[in-house]
Amino acid sequence: MAEKVWQDVDSYYEDLFGLSDPVMEKVLAMSDAGGLPAIQVSPLQGRLLMMLAQMHSARRVLEVGTLGGYSTIWLARALPPDGRLVTLEFEPRHADVARANIAHAGFSAQVEVRLGKAADSLAAMIAAEEAPFDLIFLDADKQGYPAYLEASLKLIRPGGVIVADNMVRKGAVVDAESGDASVRGVRQFNEIVAREKRLCATAIQTVGEKGYDGFVIARVLT
Ligand code: SAH
Ligand code: DHB
Ligand code: MG
Repeated sequence: MAEKVWQDVDSYYEDLFGLSDPVMEKVLAMSDAGGLPAIQVSPLQGRLLMMLAQMHSARRVLEVGTLGGYSTIWLARALPPDGRLVTLEFEPRHADVARANIAHAGFSAQVEVRLGKAADSLAAMIAAEEAPFDLIFLDADKQGYPAYLEASLKLIRPGGVIVADNMVRKGAVVDAESGDASVRGVRQFNEIVAREKRLCATAIQTVGEKGYDGFVIARVLT
């Protein structure tokens, strides 16, 4: 019952605010045809990511967890012409589909899909002293979130913003005794956020076509 209303409201806003366009429709169709699971952010969430990046005037964006590049393309739409986005993915099939989708959307020059385990790619980026990022979107395996946050703190600029997806998990995030590796991962992530004096954080609970979940948004103090 409630879930039906959530989907109807998502559809209402998607239609009214024009959240679907031929490029995004093709991107989702190509992801589907490539056999990728349909676990990308919703259209409204994608536009939220784009708008956060725009409001933050982000020029350098890092994404952890590419899938077919749907959220990647929303974020890339926020970039100025000389902006850059790096997205990390360890499934070669996902990376291939994402590269094709990113090319179709016209962002091949600005977006780089890096293949490999996110923890390894992040360690390599820290070792190479890559230029800091304005915004980091975490959306890969949830067990990895604590490590991705620690790495993000080394890769983000002062004043930068870290957005983490799937931080509510139908409410399971409150279960301190959970044996679920994803719940444990997001709770450990939150412990680090709470402990880290440089971070100011909030959580947004969301309902919609992806069910009940949410984001944590954290900003690094300047
Ligand atoms: N951000 C995407 C959805 C990402 S789904 C969107 O909203 O459009 C999560 C992705 O993370 C999957 O493609 C999965 O293969 C990838 N992933 C999972 N564990 C990973 C790891 N350890 N390193 C890199 N990528 C990983
Ligand atoms: C699922 C959703 C996500 O947003 C994600 O990053 C991973 C998995 C899911 O619905 O299973
Ligand atoms: Mg997600």
